[in-house]
Amino acid sequence: MKAVGISGSPREKSNSRSYLEFTLKALEERGIGTELVDLRGLRVEECHGCYSCAKSRECAVKDDFQAVFATMREADAILIAAPVYHASIPGKLKGLLDRAGFLGRWTANDIAAGQGSAGYQWKGTAFSGKVGAPITVARRAGHAFAFAQLLLWYGVNDFVVSGSHYWNVGVAGKGGAVNPEEDQEAYGILAHQAENIAALLKKIRA
Ligand SMILES: Cc1cc2nc3c(=O)[nH]c(=O)nc-3n(C[C@H](O)[C@H](O)[C@H](O)COP(=O)(O)O)c2cc1C
Repeated sequence: MKAVGISGSPREKSNSRSYLEFTLKALEERGIGTELVDLRGLRVEECHGCYSCAKSRECAVKDDFQAVFATMREADAILIAAPVYHASIPGKLKGLLDRAGFLGRWTANDIAAGQGSAGYQWKGTAFSGKVGAPITVARRAGHAFAFAQLLLWYGVNDFVVSGSHYWNVGVAGKGGAVNPEEDQEAYGILAHQAENIAALLKKIRA
């Protein structure tokens, strides 16, 4: 079984990546294989809204999205770590999630001509039954909105969402600092998150 962690920070050294690495390591210790995808340095445009994926089952925009989407499809669990930008996830990550969510729907379903979404027999999405878990990092405020954005993405894409004993948020990054250790509570939350993801995977994907 494999968990893929996506780091949505554009910064080379980032709090998001650090918390994600910690969680992936905790998963490794529980026997789950891991891979980290860092969006920094990758080119992933926004969704063009062309709807061509609904027919062709591929994204018409050719950039690093195709490789990331393939990695996401292979995963049993997908963790997404995002810095909070104006109480939201950053733009590149939003582009990835828009494109992956929309394409993921059409890779699994046929639409009967002219009937729109009422015309398909539901066969799941590319992500159905995968385990999902968000992590958000902010220096002060706005976590809940970004966290909710990620939860909504997981929800509409047929994931099983794993929780912890608190929301998986890190309070770090004042003035651009990379200081994840400032929030010691986050490590306990993320360790329990990893425990829950591993337990869920073993139950539903074994
Ligand atoms: C454009 C921008 C917007 C930000 N908006 C918020 C915000 O809404 N709330 C907050 O607490 N911090 C905000 N921050 C601070 C970052 O969330 C914080 O530095 C975080 O640690 C960055 O994560 P990273 O280290 O993973 O890049 C913002 C930073 C930037 C660059």
